[in-house]
Amino acid sequence: MSSYRDEMIISTKAGYTMWPGPYGDFGSRKYLIASLDQSLKRMGIDYVDIFYHHRMDPDTPLEETMGALEHIVRSGKALYVGLSNYDGPTLTRAADILNDRNVPFVLAQNCYNVLNRTVEENGLKDAVKKVKKGLICYSPLAQGMLTDRYFNGIPSDSRIKTDGRFLHEEQVTGKNLERLKALNEIAKERGQTLAEMALAWLLQDEIVTSVIVGASKPEQIKTNLKAVRNIIFSSEELKKIDELSR
Ligand SMILES: NC(=O)c1ccc[n+]([C@@H]2O[C@H](COP(=O)([O-])OP(=O)(O)OC[C@H]3O[C@@H](n4cnc5c(N)ncnc54)[C@H](OP(=O)(O)O)[C@@H]3O)[C@@H](O)[C@H]2O)c1
Repeated sequence: MSSYRDEMIISTKAGYTMWPGPYGDFGSRKYLIASLDQSLKRMGIDYVDIFYHHRMDPDTPLEETMGALEHIVRSGKALYVGLSNYDGPTLTRAADILNDRNVPFVLAQNCYNVLNRTVEENGLKDAVKKVKKGLICYSPLAQGMLTDRYFNGIPSDSRIKTDGRFLHEEQVTGKNLERLKALNEIAKERGQTLAEMALAWLLQDEIVTSVIVGASKPEQIKTNLKAVRNIIFSSEELKKIDELSR
């Protein structure tokens, strides 16, 4: 990897349980600095391009968490910082602190897809726009729901069968399946698969910097890349998608 390091963007994050015992969670200065040090050691690299604080911490003052991100950038262990799973008001306050300290805060990472509109409802999307940062979306395919994966039953190698933590059978059967198939009809009219349309729907939004797509097979990545061939939507298509997503 070292010969290609300057051509790669590597990011990592901390905010959920990193080790059992004290100081292994959330957003204290001690936790964030130790978590990044451990990640760098595991990856065998000196710095990451983007280091994210992964979730809001109800107990640690925001100034302390942002101060830790500042220290991390000043020490050369990260070039830029990001915030993940923040809501709009907290992101705005955090951005003010980081801007005052000249810390290069570049983007928010949140769950966003055709079926999950939380960022439209909790003020995050508006806040990102207001503070002129980017939004990178995780689970853009709603963990596989926004694909043809479940149109003919639940495959034994699918996430529902192999993981089962975040995606469950009832989410892709009955009325939910009908809704996914209706979305698939719109995709077909656009000459796309449902997965391609779901990714294109995010990429057409000027606030969206990029999408973090998951895959269990290389073919999924190859086909999903076709999404960029058509990211223009008519207002009628957007309206139909909105109606089916709620
Ligand atoms: N910041 C955070 O709190 C947070 C939280 C969650 C995730 N993330 C990040 O986001 C990444 C992506 O999340 P995600 O995996 O939930 O994303 P996703 O893109 O919504 O779902 C990926 C799943 O969709 C299915 N899939 C993908 N392409 C397909 C295709 N062309 N046809 C059929 N099925 C297809 C695969 O399921 P099968 O496995 O069934 O094949 C794949 O595992 C994670 O790896 C993680 O880095 C961040």
